[in-house]
Amino acid sequence: MTTERKILLLGSGFVAGPAVEYILRRPENQLTIACRRIANAEALAKQFSRAKSESIDVTNEEALDEIISRHDLVISLIPYTFHPLVIKSAIKFKKHVVTTSYVSPAMKEFHAAAIENDLTIMNEIGLDPGIDHLYALKTINEVHANGGKIISFISYCGGLPAPECSNNPLGYKFSWSSRGVLLALRNSAKFCQDGKIVEIHESDLMSSAKPYLIYPAFAFLSYPNRDSTPFKEFYNIPEAQTVVRGTLRYQGFTDFVKVLVKIGLLDDANQDYLQFDSPEISWRDVIAKVLHISSNTEDDLRKAIKSTIAENEISEDEIERILKGFKWLGLFSDQPVHRRNTLLDTLCATLEEKMQYEEGERDMVILQHKFEIELKNGTRETWTSTLLEYGKPPGPSAMATTVGIPCGIAVQLILDGVIKKRGVLQPYTSEINNPIIAELEKEGIKVKEEKL
Ligand SMILES: *[C@@H]1O[C@H](CO)[C@@H](O)[C@H](O)[C@H]1NC(C)=O
Repeated sequence: MTTERKILLLGSGFVAGPAVEYILRRPENQLTIACRRIANAEALAKQFSRAKSESIDVTNEEALDEIISRHDLVISLIPYTFHPLVIKSAIKFKKHVVTTSYVSPAMKEFHAAAIENDLTIMNEIGLDPGIDHLYALKTINEVHANGGKIISFISYCGGLPAPECSNNPLGYKFSWSSRGVLLALRNSAKFCQDGKIVEIHESDLMSSAKPYLIYPAFAFLSYPNRDSTPFKEFYNIPEAQTVVRGTLRYQGFTDFVKVLVKIGLLDDANQDYLQFDSPEISWRDVIAKVLHISSNTEDDLRKAIKSTIAENEISEDEIERILKGFKWLGLFSDQPVHRRNTLLDTLCATLEEKMQYEEGERDMVILQHKFEIELKNGTRETWTSTLLEYGKPPGPSAMATTVGIPCGIAVQLILDGVIKKRGVLQPYTSEINNPIIAELEKEGIKVKEEKL
């Protein structure tokens, strides 16, 4: 009989389901799902016959130590700011840890202690980061092994509604909190382009979006993610002249957001008129306030919004489409807003209400790496690696599957002793990545690799 394995899952977010399902396929695996609110843990656990649930406040060190001490491995799917607490306790009791988050400096500090205690703290093993690393390094290592060079590496990823479900002005839907998604639209960005470093100011991120063709039927736009420049080093491609990692959205998204940003609806400063105890206020009055006009008629609001857009910045047709979108969202209506202190959070409440996945609607995940390669003999080629996955209602979404399954695989490979590397790790080496890729393919998560 195989030894029993006790696994602790912290968090019950929407990506947890596929990870739990994968882990519980093995009869020796015992799983406890722990959340701050026990009801959340129970709701997930009851979908599986062998999952148990508990409540945990991870900021309570004693309670965290106690629950971790009873398990062999911890999966941390809670917000990344809590990971250092989890890792600290896990090292104290000599337990492995798996997260899908980027390694923060506070997490990296445990690297030496993890090695000393013979522990694997595996991170960035979801979709993005996760599957993207696996297939970036697969190609890069193959090219280098054959004496070639990576001239250019671009990698774009999008979690979107499937085309037939992109039926709203943003062509976007929210399966969890919209706040993070909206805040990311005001990030600055930095990347390498033809040997030069390009920096995009936070107010220009949406304007920097460019069409990106994968398949003609997808009208994608891409804009860069925060800082792509360290990936030259992370991926060992010092020779690369262009290194860009970015986000994919459907056409129309960036212009719409540009207008939201222009009129200040993504502002996260407190507003006295949006406090919980301030009087009820309609969307049209909020829009009049942000535009600093006294009239709140739809006509005047439209005119004032138009006047914030510079000439030739957005086409006339597109402006009309965006204003229709404002109307569709109820922003010109008498509908009272959900007062959430800031304009950003108040808008989030409306977006989450109007832009949810309806029953039976499916999401889509698309990831493409595009490499410009110089082979050993000087020939130039373009190689692409493309992942396209759809959600399978009423089953898990594509996003949940492509984040949760790699995470579950990493857990199993650590427990099985296949992943033997120790320390605070990312999937950056073939000894870690190859076994994960082999298991992903068995799950039907396949990246299509093409050479042109
Ligand atoms: C260079 O190498 C590639 C791959 O081995 C081969 O297909 C191609 O014909 C070669 N080109 C030249 C100019 O030798």
